[in-house]
Amino acid sequence: MCGIVGYVGGQQAAPLLLEGLARLEHRGYDSAGVAVLGGSGQRLAKRAGRVRDLSEALPKRFAGKVGIGHTRWATHGPATDANAHPHLDEASAVAVVHNGIIDNASTLRRQLTDAGVELASDTDTEVLAHLVARSDADTLEGKVRETLSYVEGTYGIAVTHADFPDRIVVARNGSPLLVGVGEKEMFVASDLAAIIRHTTAVAHLDDGEMATVTATGFTTVRHTDGAATAREAVAIDVDADQYEAGEHESYMHKEIHEQPASAARVLRGRLDERFGTAHLGGLGLDNRELRAIRRVKILGCGSAFYVGQMGAGLIEELARIPADAEAASEFRYRNPIVEPDTLYVVVSQSGETIDTLLAVEEVRRKGGRCVGLVNVVGSAIARACDGGIYLHAGPEVAVASTKALTNMFLGFALLALQLGRVRDLSIADGKRLIAGLERLPDQIAEILEGEADLAEAAKELAAAESLFFVGRVRGFPVAREGAQKFKEISYRHAEAYQTSELKHGPLALISPQVPTVAVVPDDELTERNVAALHEIAARGGPLWVVTHPGVDLGDVPARRIEVPRNEVELDPILLTVPLQVLAYHAAASLGLDVDKPRNLAKSVTVE
Ligand code: F6R
Repeated sequence: MCGIVGYVGGQQAAPLLLEGLARLEHRGYDSAGVAVLGGSGQRLAKRAGRVRDLSEALPKRFAGKVGIGHTRWATHGPATDANAHPHLDEASAVAVVHNGIIDNASTLRRQLTDAGVELASDTDTEVLAHLVARSDADTLEGKVRETLSYVEGTYGIAVTHADFPDRIVVARNGSPLLVGVGEKEMFVASDLAAIIRHTTAVAHLDDGEMATVTATGFTTVRHTDGAATAREAVAIDVDADQYEAGEHESYMHKEIHEQPASAARVLRGRLDERFGTAHLGGLGLDNRELRAIRRVKILGCGSAFYVGQMGAGLIEELARIPADAEAASEFRYRNPIVEPDTLYVVVSQSGETIDTLLAVEEVRRKGGRCVGLVNVVGSAIARACDGGIYLHAGPEVAVASTKALTNMFLGFALLALQLGRVRDLSIADGKRLIAGLERLPDQIAEILEGEADLAEAAKELAAAESLFFVGRVRGFPVAREGAQKFKEISYRHAEAYQTSELKHGPLALISPQVPTVAVVPDDELTERNVAALHEIAARGGPLWVVTHPGVDLGDVPARRIEVPRNEVELDPILLTVPLQVLAYHAAASLGLDVDKPRNLAKSVTVE
């Protein structure tokens, strides 16, 4: 949420900053800005709107070889030119960009106004620029350290100062920051994506750490006491092309189509065909400890929560351990009972979602054991957990999550298999599921081959202002995820319901103007599902049914969307994939920016 990039070296900073911002734009896209240090001090350009608006508006003469830039997702104050980052002090000596939230910003703003400072924005960030400018410390590092001693909250910040024109000081507390090492040039960024074309030698800062970065190197200290931390850059093994949309019209389209390959990656090396089980060494739990687990609680936010519900179903079915999923954003506020024989599983693509991270901290504070299913290696959530498995989906740029969610499901399938096989699950069932998992990547590819038909259906669905997505038991989280994907990128009102609950209220809303997408797999509930379809059809509700070949829908007037058969336990993920494609094409047919839906941002690092 929000993106930071900075440069210090021999090249002009502005073009590099703008390029970095364009690569970070998925993290916040309501405003953007850059500040560079040239011969005559700070030069600032910032405005509400997209990075391309900023590029077009940039003054011709914008020279300077040190600079910082920011893409914003508004928290304090609306998306206006004045609220865009960077923020300067009154004398325009200090420039600051900031991700996160300063909790005591209103107190600090009041203290500054009482002292005669005229604040130019509504933001929490601006106070940082004034505090740095007013510090008596004689180094920039000292000024920033003093400033941070007054600040409560979360931040990743980058600071430049006209009196110290050879450096950028960055600091981290709860919001990621890294330093990238180039040839006589250095970068700072909140995300590797911003600088990947220039360097893959990076040092990730820890919370409580700050770095002073010049063209020739960097030093790190703890900002609490100034003690050196001697952090070194390490080479990251990553292909820069993974961060490009390439031949695809959008990142979301690319990421949907990457799923056969990324799904195969999360399974690789983790399946034990001989014993019909999975091996997840990263959990750090031996068989005795796995057997001692009496309950599983899954925590995640948004779509990760819905996949968590699919995961809970898998664990209950395969391991027969009571399991449920809960929105991580709610968990810590109800003073949860944390039990020592419960396994807490947190699930997150970014590994940065603050609500999920705080849920981990709540569990651990109360003595619980947390394992993570996380995509981003080395992320805050991955580090906060006792163990876990990486999802290997590769970088996900589109705001709406697709390939990472598929791998979350597969991560849960592996976990359920391992938990099941140290309990009652038979070797035959274990082998059956392994064979099913191995078929999945090709089956996902098969679904994606039907994209043209799904695009046609999507166009019709996009014409409705309001839709239902319904499913039962295994199909209900599928419906929830389908509705979520549809609403977040097409801005249509899409509501998910248990099919069985329709008649207890929402059936009143069914009409020829309100289509329903019903998830009806071939399972023990098919007949009941079909009965509900009749009830919808009888009220004139148009129906699209996501189902398996051969399922008899009787004489219900429904359009079919078919997915290949696999083992019933694994159905949810195959039923989900066409819903991603529907959402994508609905939004595309409406001419919307599918990768950057309004009001949202990738990685929600604010509460
Ligand atoms: C929806 C979506 C969000 C995320 C949620 C959690 O498409 O992407 O609902 O799933 O914000 O994010 P992570 O997985 O990064 O913790």
